[in-house]
Amino acid sequence: GDGVFKYYSSGEWKKSSSGKSVPIINPTTRQPHFKVQACTQEEVNKLMEEAKTAQKSWAKTPLWKRAELLHKAAALLKEHKVPIAECLVKEIAKPSKDAATEAVRSGDLVSYCAEEGVRILGEGKFLVSDSFPGNERTKYCLTAKIPLGVILAIPPFNYPVNLAVSKIAPALIAGNSIVLKPPTQGAVAALHMVHCFHLAGFPKGLISCVTGRGSEIGDFLTMHPMVNCISFTGGDTGIAISKKAGMIPLQMELGGKDACIILDDADLDLAAANIVKGGFSYSGQRCTAVKVVLVMESVANALVDKVKAKVAKLTVGLPEDDSDITPVVTESSANFIEGLVVDAKQKGATFCQEYRREGNLIWPLLLDNVRSDMRIAWEEPFGPVLPVIRITSVEEGIHHCNASNFGLQGCVFTRDISKAILISDAMETGTVQINSAPARGPDHFPFQGLKDSGIGSQGITNSINMMTKIKTTVINLP
Ligand code: G3H
Repeated sequence: GDGVFKYYSSGEWKKSSSGKSVPIINPTTRQPHFKVQACTQEEVNKLMEEAKTAQKSWAKTPLWKRAELLHKAAALLKEHKVPIAECLVKEIAKPSKDAATEAVRSGDLVSYCAEEGVRILGEGKFLVSDSFPGNERTKYCLTAKIPLGVILAIPPFNYPVNLAVSKIAPALIAGNSIVLKPPTQGAVAALHMVHCFHLAGFPKGLISCVTGRGSEIGDFLTMHPMVNCISFTGGDTGIAISKKAGMIPLQMELGGKDACIILDDADLDLAAANIVKGGFSYSGQRCTAVKVVLVMESVANALVDKVKAKVAKLTVGLPEDDSDITPVVTESSANFIEGLVVDAKQKGATFCQEYRREGNLIWPLLLDNVRSDMRIAWEEPFGPVLPVIRITSVEEGIHHCNASNFGLQGCVFTRDISKAILISDAMETGTVQINSAPARGPDHFPFQGLKDSGIGSQGITNSINMMTKIKTTVINLP
C-alpha cells in the first residue's frame, strides 16, 4: 500500500478519510521510519458508538469466556514477540533485549489479569440488615462488580505495549470495551499488539485503536461524552486531562522524581548496582527511574566511586546492538536534558564524566555535589543524567524527597530494617523500596503515585477493581 499503517475500528484495519498521516521519527536516525493514520473526529465518534454497543453484549459474555480470549491474546503476544520488539527498537530506541522483555511481560500480564479477574469478579458480598441499629434481619443485600462502560486507554511512549495492556486487560476482563490512543512514538508496536487481540477473536468494536495528532483528536477523546473512564500514563498532560474530564473515574500515573537515600551503614556495592540499574536502564526514560541520589556525606566518596566505575562499563550506542544507553526518544527531549546539564554546570555541579551528545544519543552522566538551586535537583530529565546530593542527616534526605511535587516511588539503602521502615513511613511516595531500585513490577503489586505523580492505584488487582462499579440488589423480606 502507501506504507501508512491502518487504524483499528469495527474489527477491521482502516485508512482514515483524512487522507493524512503522522510520521514516526526513529530516535536513532532522526528520520521518518513509519507512518500512521491521522484519524478524524468523525472516526472517533464512530468507534465510540461501536464501543458502547459492543460493551453491552460483552458484559453479558460469561467471565470464563472473557478470560479464555485474554489467554489466547496473551499467547499471541508472546508468539509475536520478535516483530513487536523490532517496532520498539525502531520507534522508541528501546534496547533489543528490553524490547523483547516488554512483549513477554505483556503476555504474562494479560494471562495474570484473566486469572485474577475470574476470581475477584467471580465473587460478591452478602450483607444482612440487622447489624445496623434499628434494623431487624429483614433485608438481604447482594453486591456485584459491574463494568464502567467504555474505557479510554492512553499509554506513554516508554512502554507503548506493556502500559497499553496493563489498561486493556483489566478493562476487558471486567466487561468494559476499550478505545486505545497509543503514543505516536510506539504507535506501530501498539497496533501490532492490537493485532494479537484481533487474532484472538474478540468481538468487533470491543477494542479500537485510533491514531493521530493530539491537536486534532486529543481533547476530543478525553472530553468525549461516551468515555466512562480514562486510564492515562504520561507527563503533565495528565493534569490538563484531569481538569477537563467529566464526572468519570480517572487512573493516572504522571512521572516522578524517585529519590534513593543511602545511609552510612548501607551495602554500597548493592546500592551502586541499583543506582546504575535504576538510573540508567532504558537511558533513564522510566517514570520509576532513580532520579536523585541522596547520600550521607560520610559514605558519599566511596559510593560515587563505585557508581562511576559501573557507569564506565555501560555500553552506549544502537538499540539494535542492545546497547545499555541508546538515543533518547526525541530531539526536543535531548535538548531539554541538555538544558538541565548546562544549568548544573553553570551552578557548579561536579561532572563525574564529560558531557557528550551526538544527535539524540546522550552519554551517561553522573553529577555530584548537586545543590537545591539547580534545576536537576527537582526536574525529571527522562534521560541518562543522574544527580547526587550529599546530605548530613537522614532528615535532610527525607525533606528533599518530600519537597518534590512528585511522589511516585523512592528507595532507601541501609542494613537497619527498623530505620528503613521509619524512613519509608516518612517518605511521601506511593511506594518505597528497601534495598532495591524503584520499579513498578511485579505487575500484580499495587502501583500508585502521591501528589502530582497520579490518581488511583494500578497493579492488576487494583486496576480490575478500579474499572468496575459496585451494584447492589436488596431483597426485602415480608
Ligand atoms: O515509566 C513508567 C513505568 O510504569 C515504569 O515501569 O518500573 O517496570 O520500568 P517499570
